[in-house]
Amino acid sequence: MSSRIRAKYNEISQAQTLLINAKQPSPNLTTISLFTGVEVPSEAEVRYNDAMKTPKRIQPLVDDGLVDEVISQLMSGKEATVYIVRCGTEIRCAKVYKEATQRSFKKAAQYQEGRKSRNSRRSRAMEKGSSYGREQQEQAWQNAEVDALYKCAAADIRVPTPFGCFDGVLLMELITDANGDVAPRLNDVMLSAEQAIKDHDTMMSYITRMLCAGIVHGDLSEFNVLLDETGPVIIDLPQAVDASANNNAKAMLARDVNNMTGYYSQFAPELKQTQYAKEMWALYEKAKLTPETKLTGQFAEDTHTADVNSVLEEIQAAFEEEQEKHERIREANEL
Ligand SMILES: Nc1ncnc2c1ncn2[C@@H]1O[C@H](COP(=O)(O)OP(=O)(O)OP(=O)(O)O)[C@@H](O)[C@H]1O
Ligand SMILES: [Mg+2]
Repeated sequence: MSSRIRAKYNEISQAQTLLINAKQPSPNLTTISLFTGVEVPSEAEVRYNDAMKTPKRIQPLVDDGLVDEVISQLMSGKEATVYIVRCGTEIRCAKVYKEATQRSFKKAAQYQEGRKSRNSRRSRAMEKGSSYGREQQEQAWQNAEVDALYKCAAADIRVPTPFGCFDGVLLMELITDANGDVAPRLNDVMLSAEQAIKDHDTMMSYITRMLCAGIVHGDLSEFNVLLDETGPVIIDLPQAVDASANNNAKAMLARDVNNMTGYYSQFAPELKQTQYAKEMWALYEKAKLTPETKLTGQFAEDTHTADVNSVLEEIQAAFEEEQEKHERIREANEL
């Protein structure tokens, strides 16, 4: 077990460290003074220097050398508890998912619809609800967020860089602000009208790119967006849904977009008139949405009224045809 986790971590870590370093330098824990050659504590080390007792669920990662110490608990939410941890010289975030029985996520079935398991034995077990099946379902739930994070990062959407999910613990980049402090949530920040319009535009392009990658966040709001010095960062994706396989995807996309537009329009009321969700979905359905699509926020509703009578006539005709077919089969069987 431990060597399997270790190998997976090394593989992910090598690729991701390159990505992170290229994108943005993480806080270095220790720097060597050029003058004395003596190690001096960096700002990050001073800031995050008091380790706490290791929570039970993180202990396996400490035993495997994935985490060196747990610095503090950042937040305990509905589905998870988030900790600040040290991994070598990096300060990271560890999201520990609560057990299914402790989660207050009520509409799991609505979100899980359309999620495919590539392994048919696993799919059957999950459908049957055996204890093996429940375990598989739990793992699928825990892996959904890390999978969505990898897909988003590959689609150039600003999310915390993931480092893998091990035994129900997601290791990811700690998002910080310009001062190196934990980044605030969008909900905690006042914006100028100009900034709100700019960030709303960024967010609409992130949602577009997500949809092009086949994902709808499903719980996007000002509480699941952080602000770093470059702009909005999307977090909290365990409920992300498959846009093409989930019947609720259109409604969830509309809710995500409208939550964001509603929030930003407090600072820039002109955003209220926009109709990005309808515009996006209409293009997506026609396979015309691309990550580069420049949306306008305008949408012309289809105003011509449906001819209800002719639809009813067609249904009646199909029904009669079906009945005749059954009749013919019955007669043939009686012969
Ligand atoms: N990568 C990160 N960097 C910095 N802070 C983070 C990060 N991930 C999560 N947080 C903080 O932890 C909080 C909870 O994380 P998250 O939303 O992923 O979990 P949750 O259990 O769904 O919480 P909630 O019920 O509040 O939505 C976030 O609101 C944010 O303040
Ligand atoms: Mg959240």
